[in-house]
Amino acid sequence: MPVPIEGFSKLSKEKKISWIAEQYTHNPEISIALLKKYWNSDARLQQLHDEFIENTISNFYLPLGIAPNFLINNRLYAIPMAIEESSVVAAASKAAKFWLGRGGFKTTVLGTEKIGQVHFMFTGDGERLKAFIDDIHPLFYTDTEAITKNMNARGGGIQHIELRDKTQALDNYYQLHCTFETLDAMGANFINSCLEQFSKTLKKEAALSSILLEEERNLEVVMSILSNYVPNCLVRAEVSCTIKDLGEEAGVPPLEFAEKMVRAVRIAKVEPFRAVTHNKGIMNGIDAVVVATGNDFRAVEAGIHAYASKDGSYSSLTHATVQDGVFRFWIDIPLALGTVGGLTGLHPLVKLGMEILQHPSAKELMQLVAVAGLAQNFAAVKSLVTTGIQQGHMKMHLLNILNQMSATEEEKTAMVDYFKTHTATHNAVVEALENLRKRT
Ligand code: MEV
Repeated sequence: MPVPIEGFSKLSKEKKISWIAEQYTHNPEISIALLKKYWNSDARLQQLHDEFIENTISNFYLPLGIAPNFLINNRLYAIPMAIEESSVVAAASKAAKFWLGRGGFKTTVLGTEKIGQVHFMFTGDGERLKAFIDDIHPLFYTDTEAITKNMNARGGGIQHIELRDKTQALDNYYQLHCTFETLDAMGANFINSCLEQFSKTLKKEAALSSILLEEERNLEVVMSILSNYVPNCLVRAEVSCTIKDLGEEAGVPPLEFAEKMVRAVRIAKVEPFRAVTHNKGIMNGIDAVVVATGNDFRAVEAGIHAYASKDGSYSSLTHATVQDGVFRFWIDIPLALGTVGGLTGLHPLVKLGMEILQHPSAKELMQLVAVAGLAQNFAAVKSLVTTGIQQGHMKMHLLNILNQMSATEEEKTAMVDYFKTHTATHNAVVEALENLRKRT
């Protein structure tokens, strides 16, 4: 029976490992050896990773793959993707190649506005509160000068601070709704530091205000925090070609294929159960690039799913049309990303990823990530409306099953060959490998 522990974070790494292995695992010796196997042999590199978080005991690997041949705004990219799911990189590469010969991807950044809010409770007259906020408005800027100096010099900073009356939704609830331009930084620390200073200014000035009545001066700040919902930090990625240029897909003639694609997207627009899976496929591409470039995939996920619900019901993030003989397929998504700060300057593989991507600005990275999402969705829906998803998926999953069965290199080669002409299901792979083993 495990017991609670005091001061775990203060133990040495060795002691943490011993404790967790002894308290929670069946065979501590094997567990300890496994954890250590994943340590990097370069002690300095390992220490760098240890210090990313608290209580590090080992590293957790994800494969880093490359999807080449992405033509984006007439420039060629190879996109790094960190992901565990077998078929994602292969699907992205296929979609990239498909569009390479059809004009490639076109992207546009539609906005870069970030958002943060000071949430506070005020009991009193809303008009007087508005007059008070108008009166102290310049102080929000002057009191944050030490924080905003560098960002302002680079052309970013605080853009707008607005009082919002939310008392219809919750008694006495108001906000300072603030917008920011954070350039190549994701901006979380910048925004949160500004907001915390705004809240101090707000409280201090309210306590002294001659505009507010005495009983109104003690307003209560509940919290100050950025929002990961950034509907105006938006990017569009699109592909298009004539129906003729689409060509035949898995025996499906071009117009029929285009119409099947449009109908599949329409279903995801009107049916949330399908929309969630449709968008999950998009996130396969997006998260993989976001992780490989050291960005916060949870923030990206939260913001994108909120955007998918912006019209009141969870819906498809991609759109497709067939008009005047042209097939068009596109995505609009909010993406708050950074190419400076955070892990981007620290994690050696992230730095390499940025180099492979030709050192993008945050705006360029938004475009590359949106393309990865669109490509992934194109590949998934194309399979779904033609051959079905399992054919490609199981081909990629084949090695996982063979590894689970401890197949040798020779067995793997034989099995990959065999499943070029046979349908791969879990049972079929198990059976085929067992038969092979019986024969040899
Ligand atoms: C699997 O990871 C993603 C798909 O389910 C996406 C989709 O259904 O569109 C294939």
